Amino acid sequence: MDGIGALVIVKFGGSVITDKNHPLSLNQVALDSLSKTLSMHPSKKVIVHGGGSFGHHYAKMAGLNTRCKFVDDIKQIALIRKSMLELNAHVINSLYLYGLNPYTIAPFYWSKSLNGLKALLYKLLSQNVCPVFFGDVLPCNRGFKILSGDDISYFLCRMLKPSRMIFCINVDGIFPSSNMKGPIIRELDPKVVEKIMAKKSSIDVTGGIVRKIKIAYKISKLGVDVFFVNGSKPDDFFKALNGEYGVGTCMRGMK
Ligand code: IPE
Repeated sequence: MDGIGALVIVKFGGSVITDKNHPLSLNQVALDSLSKTLSMHPSKKVIVHGGGSFGHHYAKMAGLNTRCKFVDDIKQIALIRKSMLELNAHVINSLYLYGLNPYTIAPFYWSKSLNGLKALLYKLLSQNVCPVFFGDVLPCNRGFKILSGDDISYFLCRMLKPSRMIFCINVDGIFPSSNMKGPIIRELDPKVVEKIMAKKSSIDVTGGIVRKIKIAYKISKLGVDVFFVNGSKPDDFFKALNGEYGVGTCMRGMK
């Protein structure tokens, strides 16, 4: 990144920092482990976090996803956002305690002024402040929609062209089957990914992961290496921060 030095964008998956089986429950241990590992790495960082058992819990109740939709009970919108701000407060606290100097930027504020956002990010990063984004609920033409942390990650990769993008997930990488059997795919070949996207592949993965792989593919087309690593394994995470291949699943940026 021009004039800023090596930059890594990291997405804290909701399934890592929360317990998806219990509404509104934080996984403090996993969150602190991520913060600690980040604090030991010298690169500049931008953090994005997901919703897990906070935002997703209420988004599900409201029947909302990434498509624009009317919501009968507008209170549900307030609940989604409130829960995301609560989760963000936990993330900010943890990052702060580990010396990361976090600074939250809520999507609502930047959607209208991209040049302004870019200038803000450069300013923050050059002064050792760590920008933090989160998946959110946004108004749209016909109601509301969820903006996922994965989409924000792609958007930021396009804007900032980081050295690498790391998705912290709750398993060791991408498995060749949805029952999580078989060896982790260490390297995802873009040609295989094209097949997955056309749904003709023998690789059978869940909808959630397919969406993530599609986003990773778009990011790799920007020339950025993408890693999927287990966010609860500090060694794997640190190696991915270093850009070491052979950890988790990597999709190399297309040159
Ligand atoms: C979801 O963000 C945000 C809300 C539901 C408001 P993500 O879709 O990135 O969340 P995770 O990482 O999958 O939990």
